[in-house]
Amino acid sequence: MTAHASHPRPLTSRRAGALGGRVRVPGDKSISHRAFLFGGLAAGRTRVTGLLEGEDVLATGRAMRQMGARIERDGEAWIIDGTGNGALLEPDGVLDFGNAGTGSRLTMGLAGPYDFTTTFVGDASLSRRPMGRVLDPLREMGVQVLARSRDRLPLSLRGPRVAAPIEYRVPMASAQVKSAVLLAGLNTPGVTTVIEPVMTRDHTEKMLEGFGATVSVETDAAGVRTIRLHGQGELRGVPDFVVPGDPSSAAFLVVAALLVPGSDVVIENALMNPTRTGLVETLREMGADIEILDPRLSGGEDVADLHVRHSSLRGVRVPAARAPSMIDEYPVLAVAAAFAEGETRMEGLDELRVKESDRLAAVAAGLAANGVTHEEGPDWLTVTGRPDGRGLGGGTVETHLDHRIAMSFLVMGLASEKPVTVDDATMIATSFPEFEGLVTGLGGVLEPAAR
Ligand code: S3P
Repeated sequence: MTAHASHPRPLTSRRAGALGGRVRVPGDKSISHRAFLFGGLAAGRTRVTGLLEGEDVLATGRAMRQMGARIERDGEAWIIDGTGNGALLEPDGVLDFGNAGTGSRLTMGLAGPYDFTTTFVGDASLSRRPMGRVLDPLREMGVQVLARSRDRLPLSLRGPRVAAPIEYRVPMASAQVKSAVLLAGLNTPGVTTVIEPVMTRDHTEKMLEGFGATVSVETDAAGVRTIRLHGQGELRGVPDFVVPGDPSSAAFLVVAALLVPGSDVVIENALMNPTRTGLVETLREMGADIEILDPRLSGGEDVADLHVRHSSLRGVRVPAARAPSMIDEYPVLAVAAAFAEGETRMEGLDELRVKESDRLAAVAAGLAANGVTHEEGPDWLTVTGRPDGRGLGGGTVETHLDHRIAMSFLVMGLASEKPVTVDDATMIATSFPEFEGLVTGLGGVLEPAAR
């Protein structure tokens, strides 16, 4: 299997003047996937604005079409006519999820309990990722799994005639696993219960409620959440669903503005759901000048504009307990730490090993290639920074089909003494197709690199 796309596009970033201006980040990836899934399932029409039109999300939309939903783009909006809960159709071909872990795992939950066969395929990155974490609870519900290589894609699922509701304690901090079980519960009689010892992003629970599902959440004194979903209820389309901007995409622009001297940038429309704000909290502890402007509600979620100015950062210890609220942000935090005074220690990173790449190893290798002092442990990383970026850069980073590795190291090159090259920028389109345009619009320099 290849480590990058069939036509890799190497890209270099280099230091230039200050970054300045206002940008609006595109829609949140997690919420956009769920908008296609729940809109495609609900009876009636859902109209979605602000949807992220990244490749991952579009793959989820295609899969829902293959199972009977009607999905059309209408100007700025997406119009979805869903099948009705319990009424998905057997797809006529394989469901190709490309690079998308969230799309594939949530759809396994959604379609798994149906009494038909669904086949899931993906790219080299997705085909390496562990699927047992969603397949195990689905098996308990009666779903049959056919996989050539154990619990990896490509694989097929076949539901029982009637699925069995389960009570499932999620063994790792994973919103995808929580969501897959809840979505399987939608086509299962009775109550499906998910116990979540550590809270992860809560978009599934919140959105299911908005689409009319009977779902309840109880949190005990220790913070353990019990989520109960009543199966086989009606789901109704949402006439005006607004997707807030993706804080995990905003993160790259926030860190770029912090690192490039003289920068002053406003990033509009960032989701501020507390299950997603760990990076902003950490950067502020490091001394970042991030002002939260105009906090407001959009589509039932907190959003705000982030005013970010170049800042001198200092190293901090990032506790393991914060990992779920910033799990996708560690690669770019490691880049920020490379410019901070002293050492930053990040703990509780075991889940980074099973992302689009082994992100802990990929970050460590990228830091090594660019002269950053660091140490990689089994589930931790320390980075010792150089506040002026002197001596940093000059390396080529292997991205391993991982969009966030590509964007993180391109951010590094905007501030390091020497330019930074990533071996392939094509995967950026999976989550943030506007990235290059927004960075150059703010004054950053990105240029094609020699192959
Ligand atoms: C996501 C959950 C997280 C995150 C991913 C999106 C979701 O994955 O990394 O980018 O939308 O539920 P895990 O559930 O594997 O932590």
